[in-house]
Amino acid sequence: MKIVNVVGARPNYMKIAPLIEEMEKHAEIETLLVHTGQHYDENMSKLFFEDLSLPKPDVYLGIGSGTHAFQTAQIMIEFEKVLVRERPDLVIVVGDVNSTVACALTATKLGIKIAHVEAGLRSFDRSMPEEINRLLTDAISDFLFITEKSAEDNLLKEGKARDQIFFAGNVMIDTLLKNKEKARQSQILDSLKLRRREYALLTLHRPSNVDDEQIFVDILKALDVIRRKITVVYPVHPRTKKKIEEFKLTSQFPFLEAGRTDDEKRFIMVEPLGYLDFLQLMSQARCVLTDSGGIQEETTVLGIPCITLRHNTERPVTIDQGTNTLVGADRQRIIDAVCKALEYDNAAAKVPVKWDGSAASRIVQILLSEMKK
Ligand code: UD1
Repeated sequence: MKIVNVVGARPNYMKIAPLIEEMEKHAEIETLLVHTGQHYDENMSKLFFEDLSLPKPDVYLGIGSGTHAFQTAQIMIEFEKVLVRERPDLVIVVGDVNSTVACALTATKLGIKIAHVEAGLRSFDRSMPEEINRLLTDAISDFLFITEKSAEDNLLKEGKARDQIFFAGNVMIDTLLKNKEKARQSQILDSLKLRRREYALLTLHRPSNVDDEQIFVDILKALDVIRRKITVVYPVHPRTKKKIEEFKLTSQFPFLEAGRTDDEKRFIMVEPLGYLDFLQLMSQARCVLTDSGGIQEETTVLGIPCITLRHNTERPVTIDQGTNTLVGADRQRIIDAVCKALEYDNAAAKVPVKWDGSAASRIVQILLSEMKK
């Protein structure tokens, strides 16, 4: 069985890594790794291949940045050539980035079966590009591997057949559990002069938070208050970096100035980090502020309070059972949530069912038996 695995952007690498590792245990599977090049900076891509011991991609499409239509279309054109040449039995796509939908759409038109890993998650907010990617990818995928029960309900409501849906667990958590010990060797806390539980970790890049100046400014006002209560560490995403420059925000918020090191500055901006450094920072943080999808799940497993700067989440289990709180982009709600996290040392949380490190092995077993049918 020949399987093409697709990665494109940062959140894909940790999802595909355990699947490839598992497939390599089965002699009857031939794997091919295709990197679309949606993310291309060293610290958005190469670092992750090293940290996760991912094999070098067999094919690199080198697409790069662009508008959504440009990026999606370019990936389709180049990926089609790969599929025509390689004729795989199956394409595996993960997550919800533009590379996910572009490659799924290309495969289905060539009559090639598709497995979507992390299917069925819905924010019910179609202004999010990822929601469109999720809806379309699931609509055309043959095998839908889900991470939580809510996904099954969503897929059934959208008319998917029950026998296409497999509750396999969470491959991203496979990677987290595998690397947690290794991450402890990271020197990142020392190099940033941070002490365990004495800082908040921030990630912020979603268009809805940083592309609108007013919303972005409101979030920065909240961060200006928070950094006086607890040191904030922020690995800056390239999109956000551009927006800080475009809106000329450093004059209004001098704490955003690169390279400032005075003691008063409790806002530490760094370049995007590799997987192990970031995992270590997350594990040792007092709380995490984020607008990412996956980080809501990772903090749930780590038992670290997660304050999500969004109005909705496609991952409701992180609220029902995990450590997640939604605060939107409201200045006061963000500040209040951080104050609450500072009061309590530990978040009461349960690890969701099947987030146990064996998701990839379940997925590969299911695929082996389903593809024989
Ligand atoms: C993409 C995903 C998002 C995911 C995020 C994680 C989509 C629709 N969005 O958003 O779900 O949470 O990745 O990082 O697929 N850039 C660089 N270097 C890079 C990559 C991007 O400088 O290696 C810059 C580009 O100028 C680009 C901007 O960042 O315009 C945004 O990149 P893009 O891939 O379009 O989307 P993300 O915001 O990264």
